[in-house]
Amino acid sequence: MVSFKYLLGLAGVAAATVNSTVFGGQGQIRTLWNSAPYTDLGCLTSAGQWTANPSLCAVFTAVRPGSIFTLTTSAGPCEISGANFTCGAGNTPGQFGIWPWPNSPPKIESLRWGQYGLMSTPSPNPISASDAAVTLRYTSYWDSGYYVWLTWKGV
Ligand SMILES: *[C@@H]1O[C@H](CO)[C@@H](O)[C@H](O)[C@H]1NC(C)=O
Ligand SMILES: *[C@@H]1O[C@H](CO)[C@@H](O)[C@H](O)[C@H]1NC(C)=O
Repeated sequence: MVSFKYLLGLAGVAAATVNSTVFGGQGQIRTLWNSAPYTDLGCLTSAGQWTANPSLCAVFTAVRPGSIFTLTTSAGPCEISGANFTCGAGNTPGQFGIWPWPNSPPKIESLRWGQYGLMSTPSPNPISASDAAVTLRYTSYWDSGYYVWLTWKGV
């Protein structure tokens, strides 16, 4: 029988060490629609592409010594190439930060790179799990479809 005290202790540890909205440690990158209620529209794959297939969500490692941090998947470091978000072998680790509120989802850290934050794709958005993953780029506001913020979900 697990004691009540033990359960309380576990809850205390979880509250102290886990903040699923903060980039750091290991987590998924979730794509949140840029419009309240900021619906979660999927995640990023190990190559850094947007997918609606939960089985393709990669685990990212965020190394955050300060306000600027790097992101890596099993494929390699993540960077911005042109305007595209990509992760892969041979990439130069991108220097990412957090978009300043208030025009991103409230109280949720959203990825920033330089002066860019909001992302979109020139391809059709992935809607269902069977749709192909697509490359995201910092939006120029020319793309149709959903614009998304990249956010963190600790694992
Ligand atoms: C960015 O991704 C698009 C596909 O959405 C691709 O056609 C283009 O070549 C990529 N640009 C760079 C610089 O990798
Ligand atoms: C988790 O992170 C969010 C965003 O930085 C912050 O508003 C919130 O207070 C944090 N929660 C805890 C328990 O640290």
